[in-house]
Amino acid sequence: MPAFELAAIGGPWGRRLAPRRAWLDQLPWHEPLPRADDARIVWTQTAFSEYASAAAFAEVASALLAAGAPIDLVAAAGDFVVDEIVHTEAAARVATALGGAVALEVDLTRLVRPPTPRADGAPLLAAAELVVRTSCVGEALTVPMLKLAARLAGSALIEAVLTRIVADEASHGQLGWWFLDWAAPRLDDAARAHLAGVAGDAIRAFAPLLGGSCTDSGLGVVGCDRYDPAFADAVSRAVVDPLAARGIAVRLADLPAFPPAAPVTAPQELAPAGA
Ligand SMILES: [Fe+2]
Ligand SMILES: [Fe+2]
Repeated sequence: MPAFELAAIGGPWGRRLAPRRAWLDQLPWHEPLPRADDARIVWTQTAFSEYASAAAFAEVASALLAAGAPIDLVAAAGDFVVDEIVHTEAAARVATALGGAVALEVDLTRLVRPPTPRADGAPLLAAAELVVRTSCVGEALTVPMLKLAARLAGSALIEAVLTRIVADEASHGQLGWWFLDWAAPRLDDAARAHLAGVAGDAIRAFAPLLGGSCTDSGLGVVGCDRYDPAFADAVSRAVVDPLAARGIAVRLADLPAFPPAAPVTAPQELAPAGA
């Protein structure tokens, strides 16, 4: 698999993007940071996760178009691709500031898990699957975890990066709830049950994040003693409850147990990338 690398071509395309990434240049990049291997790994993975989130919103935008969703929702999903690309650059620059990104092999052809194939096409349900996985689970979980990482960062630079990113992720999550409310009259009980399974699978996809060794918090890394209870609370409050309010019942009992001790964890976009 190829190594994860980023390139920009500049010219008119750089000028077009400049207003969206201007905040990056105003951060205190001069802050001296320690060379921290845990944090270098986390921020490299974060850059890739943000890249995968850009791919997810590109797919969401396309699926919303196919489903005839409201055009302002479509525009927002397309616009979020730009947010995620800027987050990718931000995370990569943090990794550089911490001593350099680590080598990461990636499969760019499998960034987004496709929706369940259906004989009838069912574009609305396909869009709903992508939206539930990306916004209602991934982005909704990202917000509280990024806030926690920002509080524990111990670095003005990293706190500023995380705070700016989380401001964007909040609206990325909100898109999911607005979509489901618009789609509600068009979703029957079978569709809602299917979406509950999709959400449960997406939450389960994060289980690997909950296994492994612990590390101290800081520089964007959240130690397991702080991460585990916050994550369990976020699953319940930010995902399961708002889905239940829309008739999409994810059974917490079906989800993996949240172990009392877990991993080095990432301030990363939590949307599960890859099939
Ligand atoms: Fe992001
Ligand atoms: Fe996002």
